[in-house]
Amino acid sequence: MLEATLEDLQARALERIRGARSMEELEAARVEALGRKGALGHISKELGKLPPEERARVGRLLNAVKQCLEESFEARRKEFEEEALRRRLEAEWLDLTLPAPEPKRGHFHPVTQVQAEIEDLFTSLGFTVLDGPEVETEYHNFDALNIPPDHPARDVQDTFWLTDGNLLRTHTSPVQIRGMERFKPPLRMIAPGRVFRNEEVDASHEHTFYQVEGMMVDREVSVAHLIYFMKLMVNAIFRREVAVRLRPGYFPFVEPGFELDMQCLLCEGAGCPACKHSGWVEMIGCGLVHPNVLRMSGIDPEEWMGFAFGLGLTRLVMMRFGIDDIRYLQSGDLRFLHQF
Ligand code: PHE
Repeated sequence: MLEATLEDLQARALERIRGARSMEELEAARVEALGRKGALGHISKELGKLPPEERARVGRLLNAVKQCLEESFEARRKEFEEEALRRRLEAEWLDLTLPAPEPKRGHFHPVTQVQAEIEDLFTSLGFTVLDGPEVETEYHNFDALNIPPDHPARDVQDTFWLTDGNLLRTHTSPVQIRGMERFKPPLRMIAPGRVFRNEEVDASHEHTFYQVEGMMVDREVSVAHLIYFMKLMVNAIFRREVAVRLRPGYFPFVEPGFELDMQCLLCEGAGCPACKHSGWVEMIGCGLVHPNVLRMSGIDPEEWMGFAFGLGLTRLVMMRFGIDDIRYLQSGDLRFLHQF
């Protein structure tokens, strides 16, 4: 009677061991069969009620079943453990022979890229690249450039004045003055750099932007030279023939003065929001250096003459890359910068 129960119990327990799909299921089956309050324990309590020789026989069977089940549980438990280990090794496997990931490389800002191209072009033409301070004196930014004290360009609306009487340069033209103070003519120089104006920021205006100043002083310099260099520069930057036009323009430090416009490359001159529907974009202020400016810097205007230009580098970069909002350039936004 008990023997049949034992055999039945063994068969059912073995079946559950085989069928267990997880360690938890296996453990539940083990507790049920071998646990303190389990089926085998229950049967061993019944043993005492049996007559002695039957008790010995059933007792032996009980021990045999117990041992068999313990071994089976243990074997299955090992299988689960090995399986778990195998999975972990597979998931955490590292191939130490693989090359390490390359460090991420940065690249030059679009403004820096075009600035470098302009520097290369002009140095190849015998120009020197000069640098000047971003905090300027009123003298270099205005007076020496023949800008009278009552000129609207000095208005507090445009200029960031510092409390010590100096200012953030509103253009790169003061570097012309510094160049003339430092070098004797003949001279050819360019000066790329940041300039600052107290302007309301929108899609086409920034308080901080870039210009490239250029100047050539020699014995015979004409508007023809100026136009030659301007065309050369614009065509080199856009790598093709770009239509330009010269309009009269007023700057106190040149006479005659011009505005050089470039055909809008976004609409090919048809008119679009970027060129305010005119088909042209103002790119360069330029002209022949005013005699007063030469004189103030110690150069005799009877003997020397020159041209000067101020290129809107930021605007040029926007045209070159088709950027329609100036604010992207200083945003530091990598989604934008990665494109160049
Ligand atoms: N400095 C002028 C500007 O900022 C540009 C310019 C430079 C004009 C040199 C003439 C000669 O607008």
